[in-house]
Amino acid sequence: MAKIQVILGSTRQGRSGDKVAAWVMSELAKVPGAEYELLDLREWPLPFFDEPVGPSMAPGKFTSEEAKRWSAKIQEGAGYILVTPEYNHSFPAVLKNALDYLYAEWNNKPVGFVSYGAFAGGARASEHLVQVVNELKMIPVRQRVVIPTIWAAFNEQGELAAGDMHAKNLQTMVQEMMPFVK
Ligand SMILES: Cc1cc2nc3c(=O)[nH]c(=O)nc-3n(C[C@H](O)[C@H](O)[C@H](O)COP(=O)(O)O)c2cc1C
Repeated sequence: MAKIQVILGSTRQGRSGDKVAAWVMSELAKVPGAEYELLDLREWPLPFFDEPVGPSMAPGKFTSEEAKRWSAKIQEGAGYILVTPEYNHSFPAVLKNALDYLYAEWNNKPVGFVSYGAFAGGARASEHLVQVVNELKMIPVRQRVVIPTIWAAFNEQGELAAGDMHAKNLQTMVQEMMPFVK
């Protein structure tokens, strides 16, 4: 079965991203048609990109062990869901770094966005991501999950406010990805 990888793009101490990723994974478990794997960038520490040649110029020719491992992991994915907060109207540097490391591995694969933040729900972060994933020759789908006022979005049981609406949007996102999942 094809694998969709969920990449959690925030790594800071005390992040809200934990709760968002946990919610995404629990909802995806109800969506048939693919298997889902969480890739927490905290568990995939990548130094700032330092390869002598860019990945689009020399596909697969990595010098660092971190790059080789990240490449092998991302090759397993047939599609990706990027979970991103909004930092200064964009997405975190750690996520940009993880994307910059690779090229061919991302090419021609669908990608969806789950964003969260303050009042814009991270929408500006995912809009910036669209520009980046286009350059990586990925296929961004239209449907997003946009979670505003993240500090108040989850109750103590980990339930998400307006969770039904967000779950439906997540299902639609996966449906839009499936025709491109190979
Ligand atoms: C450096 C930084 C910049 C931020 N900038 C924005 C912003 O531009 N827009 C917004 O809606 N929220 C912004 N926030 C609030 C974050 O969206 C919110 O703190 C969220 O919880 C961050 O995700 P994380 O907890 O998983 O790191 C910012 C937070 C940080 C740490």
